[in-house]
Amino acid sequence: MDGIYSWLEETSLAEAIRGTAYLYPMLESVHIIGIALLIGPAAAFDLRLLGLGRQALRVTTAAKHLLPLSHLGFMIAAVTGVAMFLPGANLLADRGSAPWKLGLILLAGLNILIFHRHTYRNVTDWDVDRPTPAAARFAAVISLTSWSGVTVAGRLLAYT
Ligand code: HEM
Repeated sequence: MDGIYSWLEETSLAEAIRGTAYLYPMLESVHIIGIALLIGPAAAFDLRLLGLGRQALRVTTAAKHLLPLSHLGFMIAAVTGVAMFLPGANLLADRGSAPWKLGLILLAGLNILIFHRHTYRNVTDWDVDRPTPAAARFAAVISLTSWSGVTVAGRLLAYT
């Protein structure tokens, strides 16, 4: 893998990011905006799955308006994250927090896949004014904890 990381560090994009004043902090800022857009709406949807606003707000309405924002946030975080990874790939990949961050992103992704393929299929039975099934509440807790964990691991990436 070290060869791949060294090759990534030498790409022209990595050199441009290293050599352009203020580009790295700009990428960090946009990364944080992406994270806010990802986690804010996802957490609001998770809270609805846990029962918040159950009488008034359909789960399908919350999903329709909130989840596309989360997807956009993830794309922004992923693009800026990869861009920040390139110039220091060897150093960052070596950090103890790196496998945690990647592992927690994969866990969050797997949770989304299972939720949409299975739990969400019979949403019409619990769309409004009904308790959500245990599997939906479990998915909400996994989502809240895994995205929080990705945030902590992301911050730690700068140090250890
Ligand atoms: C999907 C691909 C992603 C990649 C490749 C990536 C990569 C990175 C890199 C390289 C850094 C800079 C570390 C440094 O300061 O040197 C970083 C920072 C950070 N990342 Fe990500 N990231 C990704 C997604 C995410 C997501 C989804 C979250 C949160 C849910 C997140 C949370 C953070 C946080 C909180 C920081 C610290 C920002 C700061 O304080 O400046 N990252 N990430």
